[in-house]
Order: sequence, then structure tokens, then C-alpha cells
Amino acid sequence: MQSSFPPPLNRLILLNRYALQGLSLTVIDNGPSITYAKDTNTMKEEFIMSQLTLAKAKEILPKYTTEDHLFTHALAVSAAMGAMADYFHADKDHWEAIGYLHDVDYEKYPHEHCHHVREFLEPEGVDEEDINTIISHGWGICDNDVEPTTDIEKSLFTVDELTGVVMAYALMRPEGITGMEVKGLKKKFKDKRFAAGCNRDVIKKGFEMLGLDAGVVMQACIDGMTAHKNELGLK
Ligand SMILES: [Fe+2]
Ligand SMILES: [Fe+2]
Repeated sequence: MQSSFPPPLNRLILLNRYALQGLSLTVIDNGPSITYAKDTNTMKEEFIMSQLTLAKAKEILPKYTTEDHLFTHALAVSAAMGAMADYFHADKDHWEAIGYLHDVDYEKYPHEHCHHVREFLEPEGVDEEDINTIISHGWGICDNDVEPTTDIEKSLFTVDELTGVVMAYALMRPEGITGMEVKGLKKKFKDKRFAAGCNRDVIKKGFEMLGLDAGVVMQACIDGMTAHKNELGLK
């Protein structure tokens, strides 16, 4: 199906690039998911990178991931990112998508995590900016020097580990995540033996980078995950 015109601005920039090369184009697909253009002279197809959507992220992750706990983690981080997007008045679907796909290369390359994101996501037509955002969550952890600098990157860096503490706390509470309060979560956060695998120093660094009080980010994680508690298998 031919898409309607004019396309969104970032697509227009890409289309102009083709136009400058004297190519005659037919754009395939619709809306935010314009994925490639067809050069009608040569019938050569070219990828056009587009911003990640949650639907696209859910299509991509199962190609590289099979383990249930990784899907649960993807959902938890996605849910928390949605709530952080609400806090920043940002594009919720986009932030949820980044959260959902952030560990895309983990199962296949646990010891080279974040170093294979580009090779997986470029052929899927994911934007360079989104690829960098995903890679930046391993800053200082996965031997990469892509530092989180934007609100979405800093949020991802912080909630990645923090959702683990929320999840562990929800699993031990008889009420699950229902009615969870920041006060109780802070106590568990301070107890380093609780959910010991969740790196408190990384989370604190994240709070600092965001310039937000720990309670604000904790509340966002609780809210986001509570909104998705059924999918997360929580009460
Ligand atoms: Fe990761
Ligand atoms: Fe993660």
C-alpha cells in the first residue's frame, strides 16, 4: 500500500536524501512504521530507519530471546519506562518499546552484552538514535563508553536494575505489588542482601544522573509495573 503524504518530518529528511540522488520513489507501508522505500527505476529496495514502536519491539525480541525470565524483565522495564515517559511528558509507546527491547542481545551474547545490539537492530530498520539509547544502558557495566545523556537513556539506565528490586519485593509481599509504597521499597533498597543481584550503586548513579529524588523514580516503577501486574504475573 502506498503511504499518505506528507510523511512525518524525520521520514521527509530521508526521502529528500533519495530525491537528491534523482531516485523515483514509492514508499511502502503506513504511518510511523514506514520501513522501506522502493526505487521505482531500479526496483531496488532500501531500508528507511524509523523510530521504534512497542508493537515492533514485541515483534523483534522473540527472534533473539527464548527465556521466560527475560521476557518478564523486558515487560517490567517497559512498564517502568512507560511511567517515566508520563513523568517527562514524553512519547509513552516509544519509551515502552525501548524498555522492552533493551536486552535484545543478552541471551545470545551474555558476555558481550550491548555489543551486538547494532547488528541485530539495524537490519530491522531501528533508528540509530534508538540503537544508541539501548546500548547506553550498559554504560560502565558492559565495557562500553556510550554514556546515557538524555532523559530516556538515564531513565533506562536507572529502572533496568530498580525494577528487579520492585519485582523481588512484590513476589515476597502477600498482596503482591498491590498497595506497595515507596517507604517499604526504600527499606528493601537499603538492605543490600535483599535482591542482591540488583546493583544499588548503578541505581543510585541513575538517580543522580536524572537529578531526581529516589522516591520519584521508585514511585514511577511501582505505578508502571502495577498497571501491568497481570502480564508480569503479579497480584
Ligand atoms: Fe542489560
Ligand atoms: Fe535489563
